[in-house]
Amino acid sequence: MEKFVIEGGKPLKGEIKTSGSKNATLPVLAATLLTDGVCEIRNIPKLRDTLTMCKLLRSLGKTVEIGANKVTVSGSVNNHVADYKLVSTMRGSFCVLGPLLAKLGKAKVSMPGGCIIGVRPIDLHMKGITALGVKSDFEAGYVIARAPRLKGAQMYLGGTFGSSVLATANVMMAASLAHGETVIESAACEPEIEELGDFLSSMGAKIEGQGTPRIIINGVRKLNGINYKMGPDRIEAGTFLLLAAAAKSDILVRDAHYNHLLALIDKLQMIGVDVQKDGADIRVKCKKTLRPANIVTHPHPGFPTDLQAQYMALMAITPGVSIITDRVFPDRFMHIAELNRMGASIRRDAGVAIVEGVKKLFGAPVMASDLRASAALVIAGLVAQGQTQVHRIYHLDRGYEDLDGKLTGLGARVYREKE
Ligand code: EPU
Repeated sequence: MEKFVIEGGKPLKGEIKTSGSKNATLPVLAATLLTDGVCEIRNIPKLRDTLTMCKLLRSLGKTVEIGANKVTVSGSVNNHVADYKLVSTMRGSFCVLGPLLAKLGKAKVSMPGGCIIGVRPIDLHMKGITALGVKSDFEAGYVIARAPRLKGAQMYLGGTFGSSVLATANVMMAASLAHGETVIESAACEPEIEELGDFLSSMGAKIEGQGTPRIIINGVRKLNGINYKMGPDRIEAGTFLLLAAAAKSDILVRDAHYNHLLALIDKLQMIGVDVQKDGADIRVKCKKTLRPANIVTHPHPGFPTDLQAQYMALMAITPGVSIITDRVFPDRFMHIAELNRMGASIRRDAGVAIVEGVKKLFGAPVMASDLRASAALVIAGLVAQGQTQVHRIYHLDRGYEDLDGKLTGLGARVYREKE
């Protein structure tokens, strides 16, 4: 196991490049199961999660060649069992369910289980595939599903906490090869779903409305191979914007999709950060003391839950009081205790975090609990006085490509050490 050692308080400046989107890559890789053609996908971030998805595709019969930020998938799927060992380590792998059903008419996929950010049920996935005519059972921790021929249907996929990204992805992929028309109402509108829709369209699927709450899919008999380039990771870019604000820096975030980050950018501008679109990049300048502001996370286009922890790190050093509510994952607050170890003043009261901004954070040994919490601790460590050690950085390696290298390029002092 490795840890990050961060010498805090170094001035940060310059350019930082955004990698391809992790959360778009995972369903896109799953979608390659839908074709026997060759799929060449570029700008894939080299991450633990994308490698796990490649391993899963191999275990299902596909040939997967992994290059530098490029993955080529070929061959036919010949196994319908998605193993516990691979699915349990990463929830994103549950979205092989839809493609397996579409291609083989059967699937046995390990249930992804809960995780540190909340319970994370799968009822919306099951509702969606059941509407397409799938019969399913739960047995020994697996979903066992069967449907000789999927049939298009209208369905409502809204849940208690809003729409579901991966349930929408599962249904879109299954419906692409189903017989007839599928209409998903209250579909997830996240840019990752829009990208999956574009990917499926380029494979020959008949799909419209991706990126809106109503997606219409007319099933086709066959999908083709494709050459495709993944778009940038909005959560990684948003993390860099928040880092620039926290470090009071002038940073150019390269290859960042401004329109995918409007909720964050609006909030940053409101609290006094200068954020400008600069072609395909975003420039962020922050020289002064900021004002605090509350956030409530919501599905896209609301403030993303995946940036909540990093925003909390910024509020921890912004004078005044802010209230942070996560309506997507109401228990996603494991980072509070670790930020407090660094001198932050944050308390949790029922479903909200109340942050009283302090003048300074101090370096400390802290424990990464999940991917985005880890990013928050790195931001805190970079602006803290003294040395911070972030333990268990395998969480970061799941979702941030070469983060230490990229931060070093800005002038940060961050290095890896064995635990
Ligand atoms: N939900 C249900 N029933 C379901 C599915 C979800 O009630 O069947 C609830 C969840 O418990 C949650 C809400 O609906 O309260 C939204 O969950 P969603 O299904 O949208 O999450 P997901 O698709 O499992 C993806 C991302 C997460 C991101 C969420 C929300 C991937 C691989 N994961 O998860 O990313 O937080 O959408 O935007 O795309 C991360 O990258 O750190 C991460 C956790």
